[in-house]
Amino acid sequence: MARYELVKRSVALITLTNPPVNALSSPVRHAIAKSMERALSDPKVTAVVICGENGRFCGGADIREFAGPLRGPPLIPVLDAIEAGRKPVVAAIEGVALGGGFELALVCHYRIAHSKARLGLPEVTLGILPAAGGSQRLPRLIGIPAALELITTGRHISAQEALKLGIVDQVTDQNACEMAVEFALKSVGKPLSSRRVSMLTTPCPPDLDALLEAATMQVKKKARGVMAPLACIQAVRAAATMPFSKGMKRESELMTTLFNSGQAQAFQYCFFAQRTAGKWTLPSGAQWNNSKPREIRSAAVIGLGTMGRGIVVSLARVGISVIAVESEKKLLENGRQMVIGMLERDAKRRGVSASLNLLKFTLSLQDLKDVDLVIEAVFEDMALKKRVFQELSKVCRPTTLLCTNTSGLDVDALAGVTNRPHLVAGMHFFSPAHVMKLLEVVCGPRSSSETIATAMSLGKKMGKVSVAVGNCPGFVGNRMLKPYLDQATFLLEEGATPEQIDKALEDFGFAMGVFRMSDLAGLDVGWRVRKESGLTGPDVDSKNPPRRRQGHRYCPIPDMVCEQGRFGQKTGRGWYMYDKPGDTNAKPDPLIQNLLETYRSRYGIQPRNISDQEIIERCLFVLANEGFRILEDGMAARPEDIDVIYLFGYAFPRHRGGPMFYVSMVGLERVLERLEHYHQAHPDVPHLEPSALLKKLVACGSPPVQKWREYIKTMHSHL
Ligand code: 3HC
Ligand code: NAI
Repeated sequence: MARYELVKRSVALITLTNPPVNALSSPVRHAIAKSMERALSDPKVTAVVICGENGRFCGGADIREFAGPLRGPPLIPVLDAIEAGRKPVVAAIEGVALGGGFELALVCHYRIAHSKARLGLPEVTLGILPAAGGSQRLPRLIGIPAALELITTGRHISAQEALKLGIVDQVTDQNACEMAVEFALKSVGKPLSSRRVSMLTTPCPPDLDALLEAATMQVKKKARGVMAPLACIQAVRAAATMPFSKGMKRESELMTTLFNSGQAQAFQYCFFAQRTAGKWTLPSGAQWNNSKPREIRSAAVIGLGTMGRGIVVSLARVGISVIAVESEKKLLENGRQMVIGMLERDAKRRGVSASLNLLKFTLSLQDLKDVDLVIEAVFEDMALKKRVFQELSKVCRPTTLLCTNTSGLDVDALAGVTNRPHLVAGMHFFSPAHVMKLLEVVCGPRSSSETIATAMSLGKKMGKVSVAVGNCPGFVGNRMLKPYLDQATFLLEEGATPEQIDKALEDFGFAMGVFRMSDLAGLDVGWRVRKESGLTGPDVDSKNPPRRRQGHRYCPIPDMVCEQGRFGQKTGRGWYMYDKPGDTNAKPDPLIQNLLETYRSRYGIQPRNISDQEIIERCLFVLANEGFRILEDGMAARPEDIDVIYLFGYAFPRHRGGPMFYVSMVGLERVLERLEHYHQAHPDVPHLEPSALLKKLVACGSPPVQKWREYIKTMHSHL
């Protein structure tokens, strides 16, 4: 777990050897402690260098160990012994120095970093704070404002920025370890007291209180209800106002509070869920580690509307040449200008030059003869999409992969009109496609493992979090969204207001409640889907719209809002009113209040007071209930995949871990009991009926979410 060697006859070289990231697991901590003891007691050794194997210094504490009781030596005394030692210790930072890895570097007397190294204290993103002295040492080294920013955001910084801030002493393009050995030899005999960061006095700005207050306001606004950033600020305050030993005590108290809060578990679950989600499998046995993706050098995007533009940008900025197709000259020109503008802004922000030379714009599918992959993003109209796929089938070479960005149509039906059904899959981006990190890769029953491997790997290349899902209406994310939206509108019928529902969801942690979010996305989108599925349309009596359709409860209010031309922010009116079209500042609209009152009295509904608890339970338990059904149907491989989809595609609050993790924390028994209660009250809402899997899990003693997979019948798996 750490290799000990004597180099240049007098330098002890300690190499952490815990692949893949040299995390500070119990054996690694033990090995560091033993190696340091040996180095400090060996008279031949005059200096020490600490580095990590495989070009990675250290990725921090072993997060897997957080779930159990502490084993082996605690980290803090191991680090303190390094700093207090009488021989100079140099950290040779290659790859990453993150979290506990950064804290290890901070106790070394000198730090040499490779120019490509990244450093940071990302603990806050795991729901904790730097608890091995990082919150106390970093402010002493670089001052309060800079330390506050790094600790509360968890941002990784480059070696160059670390040099500028005074975190590292030297940056090198050469082997950092060899440079550190040379540096260590030169440091022998120099006084060490000024190099011990814990001995430094924190440079304290005169406006400390104002600074910390501003930081508090900022993190409260950015991450509603999240405890870790606030604890980070308190720890930094301690670094500014207390001696080191007292500050360490405060750091430890804050860490204990965070650890017992439940939020830390949620964040850490998210960390592993994100990594698990990339590990897809297909019923054939093909999976992520035995299927080879194709390399995609050229692609085509058909349709330059809301989605197509963002998809072109996502492809071009990772160096893939793109042919963009539109149906009319004017639309093509408009799309071209939008794409170029987006790419230029994106390149400016990243400090690189825009890859405009990779783009070609055309009106003819004939130009797509030689591309490696096509992503279709035309209107959500099955007949139109089928025509496009038939045409592509004729035009493109037989090996070209054909993908669709449909938000819920049958991918296999599209595959069926082509001459290569095995090369067809869904690549479902989220809006705006160049910003949103989620990609659902829809595996049709005939999609080959190579097709799925390629779509997943292309997603990763574009910086997306790709999740493989089965082919069912709405796939995973949008399929779950429907019952969630339905509950919100049923609550309106029963007496709630859009503001009240949104506030309850925002207090829960969503950045935007369901109605504000719908106004942003555009209410006409869902209206079109409801019309296409026959739920509404010209045949419906608009004076007395029925409240039961296709055998179930139906809330006509969203259609009534759209019939008034209220499509959300873009029209300046929706569930809320805005000062002008395009404005984002939502204000309650008396007209909506009036519409709700008239509606209720027309249907004889006596409005009742609805508690926030009922809002949360009905909206979120029904969401998870559909998640359970998706698992039963084999349309998602594991609960982690569903949670990742909701975290990255629907901004589910990370400190709640995702809908499936959230209900596991509430307690499955309670969720079952509440769903049974609500279903009894609303028997015409089938989505409220507890799923068989939920009942089974409760009957089996409510195992933790990571174990649910063992209880899911794999017979029907589509993945
Ligand atoms: N502990 C345990 N496992 C870790 C880990 C860690 N700190 N960091 C990464 N891993 C695991 C991942 O789960 C993954 O496992 P898998 O192969 O079984 O899925 C494997 O290492 C590789 O990780 P990535 O897929 O993320 O590899 P990348 O090369 O893309 O990224 C990385 C490497 C930038 C180091 C990234 O893994 C990362 O950000 N890791 C977490 C860093 C972090 O947050 N450290 C702070 C830990 S908390 C702490 O130190 C507390 C301290 O203050 C006391
Ligand atoms: P849009 O209406 O903004 O754009 C569609 C574009 O396709 C239009 O510019 C149209 O001119 C073009 N088009 C139509 N027929 C064409 C043809 N034969 N050849 C070339 N271009 C053609 O639609 P949007 O929102 O971009 O949606 C596209 C697809 O993406 C749909 O399937 C939709 O369901 C899906 N989607 C939409 C999301 C959204 O939030 N808007 C999110 C995820 C998926």
